[in-house]
Amino acid sequence: MKRIIITIDGWSSCGKSTLAKQLARELNYVYVDSGAMYRAITLYFLRNHVDWTKTKQVVDALKDIHLEFIYNPQSAQSEIYLNDENVEYVIRDLVVAEKVSEIATIKEVREYAVAQQHKMGKRKGIVMDGRDIGTVVFPDAELKIYMTADSAVRVQRRFKELFEKNPNITIEEVKANLEMRDYIDSNREISPLRKADDALELDNTHISPAQQLHKALGWVLSRTTQPQKL
Ligand code: DC
Repeated sequence: MKRIIITIDGWSSCGKSTLAKQLARELNYVYVDSGAMYRAITLYFLRNHVDWTKTKQVVDALKDIHLEFIYNPQSAQSEIYLNDENVEYVIRDLVVAEKVSEIATIKEVREYAVAQQHKMGKRKGIVMDGRDIGTVVFPDAELKIYMTADSAVRVQRRFKELFEKNPNITIEEVKANLEMRDYIDSNREISPLRKADDALELDNTHISPAQQLHKALGWVLSRTTQPQKL
């Protein structure tokens, strides 16, 4: 079967990573969580007190950042490493979530992340999720999926995820953070979240993970098999 690039874009917490992981497992593709890259950069900036309103500080800091995805057979997924430290879990903290959208608006940060994403897609056989993957990173991807889900459902999902790690978190905090990120992600000047003209829309508010996988696999099949010659 022909190996392709699959892009999945959409709001925060609308199920992009669940679908991306399902597809990667099913097709034996590499899964890249592009949001994790922006989160890891944010973590570095916070830890190292980088003033991200100053371009020189941003450019210098980016030179010291090395990001890598390494497959963990135990969790059965690729995990992100920041300068050789596994930060897959710490980047999900609300402290990082509160700043990441702002940092993802910075031109130099986006150029840095997109250059690495291009390299990762060179050999195809990749599923990448994010906000600008089908529009900016891989505009020629063979399959582009744009995911949506009702905002109340998204808040519940994110709350459940964060509550498991931090029982002090409130639903109001989660809702406010999601709304703020949605606003910044879709209104920023560079590469805002948009549905690519040729993207297929998948609303997963009322469908199960198995149903969404089934639907997406049908789309993959239509892109990877040649029509039979008579
Ligand atoms: O998918 P996520 O919630 O982990 O993404 C974290 C932030 O990174 C999100 O607020 C927007 C930003 N992001 C981006 O600007 N472009 C991407 N391709 C992926 C994420």
